[in-house]
Amino acid sequence: MNMLLSTWSFSESILNTVATKLGNSAGALDLVETCARMAEADESIDSVGVGGYPDADGRCTFDAAVMLSPSQSGGVCAIERHQHPVSLARLVMEKTNHTLLAGPLADVFADEHGLESVDILTQSSKEKWLKWKEDHQPTETLAPYDTGTGKLFGNHDTIGTLAVDARGTMAGACSTSGMAWKVPGRVGDSPIIGHGLYVDPKRGAATATGHGELISGVCSSFLVVELMGRGASPIEAIQEMLERVEHSYDIESEHQVACIALTPDGQFAGGALRDGFTYVVCKNGPAEVKSPEFVLNP
Ligand code: GLY
Repeated sequence: MNMLLSTWSFSESILNTVATKLGNSAGALDLVETCARMAEADESIDSVGVGGYPDADGRCTFDAAVMLSPSQSGGVCAIERHQHPVSLARLVMEKTNHTLLAGPLADVFADEHGLESVDILTQSSKEKWLKWKEDHQPTETLAPYDTGTGKLFGNHDTIGTLAVDARGTMAGACSTSGMAWKVPGRVGDSPIIGHGLYVDPKRGAATATGHGELISGVCSSFLVVELMGRGASPIEAIQEMLERVEHSYDIESEHQVACIALTPDGQFAGGALRDGFTYVVCKNGPAEVKSPEFVLNP
């Protein structure tokens, strides 16, 4: 089997390119890393990598994680000088005995491993920030909303990609520039194992997108994988996680939590707190944009 699953419709062209470029023999980790790298390099995606929304002081910071199994994961958060946080997260997994590196010292670790240091604050990010400073544009404080055509409106969100390769290996990756206009220093769910991403080859994989604080509060990705390990289908597991979020928080209009999940034998589903989420599936053919199978509050 060779299957890729990824959040938001901007992933459609990415999955098609990666499936064509890397082909059926590619390993799951290479597949998910390449998908995240493409999103990180695409300036038109304003929630991942370059072109992303800055924090309240006009500074861009990136978070990312990769995971193969409970004993093989890596993440980086609040990095400021490297374009591909997902590759840095992979280096943390492969070259250290640690799980998470943070801030300027994570950038130094990247330098030491030969990753090019760049200015990640693009002109377009700077202009978005200046405009926000001027008039606090309301659209970018709204929950992320995907029309299904590749453009995501609203505050922010994450590319999360899950794969099972032809050898049956599972992997996941996620990457984000975080919440627009965040308090400097804020880190969301994406780089934290079990929050924005979790992979257990015996139980399955899940990745979450949306409001990081709500996702973290219920350890969303871990919860979904754990429930699948106890016999829930992907959709049942996502539904239970979303109900847990709803019971734990006063849900406000800017809140969205969405999740995709995949079992080792290729069953999958997507779900969300509210309308406006899409995900993409690619399995032996062109990528297909899908509406979530479950929406808690349509
Ligand atoms: N889900 C991305 C974030 O909240 O940072």
